[in-house]
Amino acid sequence: MKTIIEPFRIKSVEPIRFTTREERETLLDQAHLNTFLLRSEDVLIDLLTDSGTGAMSARQWSAMLRGDESYAGSPSFERFEAAVRNLANFKHIIPTHQGRAAEAILFSILGGEGKKIPNNTHFDTTRGNVENTGAEAVDLVVAEGLDPNDLSDFKGNIDLVRLEQFMRDNAADVPCVMTTITNNAGGGQPVSLANIRATAEIAHRYDKPFIIDGCRFAENAYFIKQREAGQQDRSITDIVRDTFACADGMTMSAKKDGLVNIGGWLALNDDDLALKARSRLIMTEGFPTYGGLAGRDLEAIAQGLTEVVDEDYLRYRVRTNEYIIERLDRLGVPVVKPAGGHAVFIDARAWLPHVAPLQYPGQTVACALYVAGGIRTTEIGTVMFGRQPDGTERPAPMDLVRLAIPRRTYTQSHADYIVEVFEELAREVDQMRGLTIVEEPPTMRHFTAKFARL
Ligand code: F0G
Repeated sequence: MKTIIEPFRIKSVEPIRFTTREERETLLDQAHLNTFLLRSEDVLIDLLTDSGTGAMSARQWSAMLRGDESYAGSPSFERFEAAVRNLANFKHIIPTHQGRAAEAILFSILGGEGKKIPNNTHFDTTRGNVENTGAEAVDLVVAEGLDPNDLSDFKGNIDLVRLEQFMRDNAADVPCVMTTITNNAGGGQPVSLANIRATAEIAHRYDKPFIIDGCRFAENAYFIKQREAGQQDRSITDIVRDTFACADGMTMSAKKDGLVNIGGWLALNDDDLALKARSRLIMTEGFPTYGGLAGRDLEAIAQGLTEVVDEDYLRYRVRTNEYIIERLDRLGVPVVKPAGGHAVFIDARAWLPHVAPLQYPGQTVACALYVAGGIRTTEIGTVMFGRQPDGTERPAPMDLVRLAIPRRTYTQSHADYIVEVFEELAREVDQMRGLTIVEEPPTMRHFTAKFARL
């Protein structure tokens, strides 16, 4: 059969609320033109994030009842730890309430004034946690990764030549080398196994730990299976194991490929680092066998990790993005190609050439999508990354709008509706005007900034 259907049937449903265009105009104004400030009940299709927004399976819900809520030594922790080790066999598995807590703990130990951390592209919370310690977050993604029209297979790869050069010049200040799979801030593009291995080799040659931000490890493994020579006959699980076998540790938001609504972990092989991380964990998250989570959350993650490596699920998930991208491409809407794992990215800078980067074309499109169709998305561009640590502002490398697809939540007709909303926007695009920021916090401004129309 040609149609790749949703590989599940629906047991429990949640209604969504319809609003009129006029209502949405008022609601968006009340939210100061910031989609993060909208109420979710006023959103028809919520593509703000794929993080913690997915549907859990019947097996996950039933596993939650097994949750043992003991403060210490709970069997729920043992099941969680075993499920993580089955895929990522690190010596120390330290649960956290979500990914950024793992980052905060890691960089409280490895960061600090004068330190430099290379990555393909730091996600905004990673960058925030690095910079918060006074360290510098350095992005070294391959040039193809910054060209929305480049059809290369692994646009999330680290530029190995630049990494080598960077290490030669800065090794003394580098506490670890990172890579983010998939490269969220660069369009959800995958990193090849060959690139992961070569990055690890460079890190280890300079005697530095190699840490993977593994948020979307299963989606990355699916792309490796599809696209990397010699990987076609291997299971997703084997590819995932090979991926993490290269690393000395990982940070993880289980809200993505853990298939849960909350949770994360920090994993490390080094005993001394792990000792420091657990001391920090006890101060900020909780005892090392629950780390900011309930026992039932640990159970849901353990089960989720067995489901996310299912190839039928991954095929359907990636195909949904491809389907939307193919149709938007035909409409003439510039999209980041090829399709990434967790989201469809619109190249707003190319679609709105009359709106300068410092007038936020991405935010402008995000507002238009909400008004026209009740679709909530987020800008990944100059609003998110344009403000520099010294307080100045400059255009981000790209101005994208992300349509993040929650896992197992929406169906084919939702995808068709999204495309129809773009059909309408394509007729208005020339009239869209940019925005200005009227109020912003000192860091991570995209969450709370207030905008006005120009
Ligand atoms: N790393 C990456 C690559 C991420 O995409 C995220 C979260 C994090 C770390 C932090 O994890 O949210 O559990 O603290 N990304 C979400 C998003 C928020 O919408 O892309 P967290």
